[in-house]
Amino acid sequence: MNKPHSLYIGLMSGTSLDGIDAVLAKIGPNGETSALDAVSNPFTSELRQALFELQSPGPNELHREKKAGNALAIAYAQAVSQLLKKVNLQSSDITAIGAHGQTIRHQPHLGDMAYTHQTLNAALLAEKTGIDVIADFRSRDLAAGGHGAPLVPAFHAQQFLSSENLAILNIGGIANLTLLPKGGKVTGFDCGPGNMLMDAWITKHQGKAYDESGNWALQGKVSEGLLVEMLADSFFSKAPPKSTGRDNFHLAWLQEKLGSSSNHHAEDVQATLLHLTAHSALEALARHAPQTQKLIVCGGGARNNAMMNLLQVKAQHLFKKPIEITTSDSAGIDPQLVEGLAFAWLAWSYKEKRPANLPAVTGAKGPRILGACYPA
Ligand SMILES: Nc1ncnc2c1ncn2[C@@H]1O[C@H](COP(=O)(O)OP(=O)(O)O)[C@@H](O)[C@H]1O
Ligand SMILES: [Mg+2]
Repeated sequence: MNKPHSLYIGLMSGTSLDGIDAVLAKIGPNGETSALDAVSNPFTSELRQALFELQSPGPNELHREKKAGNALAIAYAQAVSQLLKKVNLQSSDITAIGAHGQTIRHQPHLGDMAYTHQTLNAALLAEKTGIDVIADFRSRDLAAGGHGAPLVPAFHAQQFLSSENLAILNIGGIANLTLLPKGGKVTGFDCGPGNMLMDAWITKHQGKAYDESGNWALQGKVSEGLLVEMLADSFFSKAPPKSTGRDNFHLAWLQEKLGSSSNHHAEDVQATLLHLTAHSALEALARHAPQTQKLIVCGGGARNNAMMNLLQVKAQHLFKKPIEITTSDSAGIDPQLVEGLAFAWLAWSYKEKRPANLPAVTGAKGPRILGACYPA
């Protein structure tokens, strides 16, 4: 007898610190996943600030971290409640929630002492929603010697079936690539900063959360010297498996590249940061998957028109053949929801006792079941 479809909710809040994407997913017996509805809530400025301050060491951080984990659980629970109301469903209709939490440290290079920390009071989330919560998806992969990131390639592989050599570029705060060669092995890795540095720079200069459609970047001129300086960071030439986060790329990193005697116009720096994201992603793609025929872009960066146009122009230079570049809308998935959907699928994988990491991606010793369950 065929098992019926089940309903899961994926909760994602990524390195951009923009807010929460809550996605209701219908998942079939073999993991076929579709988004039924979604709610995207920006963080309150208070929660965003608390989470932002936890990204680097500071006084009394254990207390502040536990409080932020509670506040995040409450904000997650509100998003779940709004989503259920929107589609007229009850908690009991949902098999489980897959909750990412907020990464505040990612230190995969410490051998036996390696760790990654996604803050979230998952017990409180289970208590408030009355739904099983699966959380802490990354730790087990790290325990098995992996990076615990990126975790989305396994989901991309089953979601974006293609008869072409396909690649997926997720442009969140950090950007990551999934390589899906026709009939070949799935690989993937973080390829560098996504929107994070551009967000930080426009916040510093204009107080805006992000550069709408990259319009400010388009007013500037790329500084080739600065671009070369930034691309010299050792992360870009490192061989996969590799992952990164705010631990590596942040405003202080950018200030250091700018140097103390910098006389760059602010909009030129923004233009250069746009090029940094597009160039580092495509250069990694050309190096590791020169046979790519199609690139699907997802994450909030897919909504940045200047980014999409630049990817097109740069791909023409880097690859000696045409490459089709589209957003995940073309595959019927809102780019902003792909990661949330992936975390619903990761919760399904846990419930089905299916390993969900790809050792070829994370560098783990083997396949592992990811996550920990806080029952309703
Ligand atoms: N219309 C837009 N124009 C430019 N950038 C956008 C737009 N919409 C979203 N973004 C960018 O996408 C980011 C959010 O992307 P998201 O995929 O949620 O990242 P994360 O997973 O790190 O939270 C925003 O911070 C912003 O930089
Ligand atoms: Mg986000």
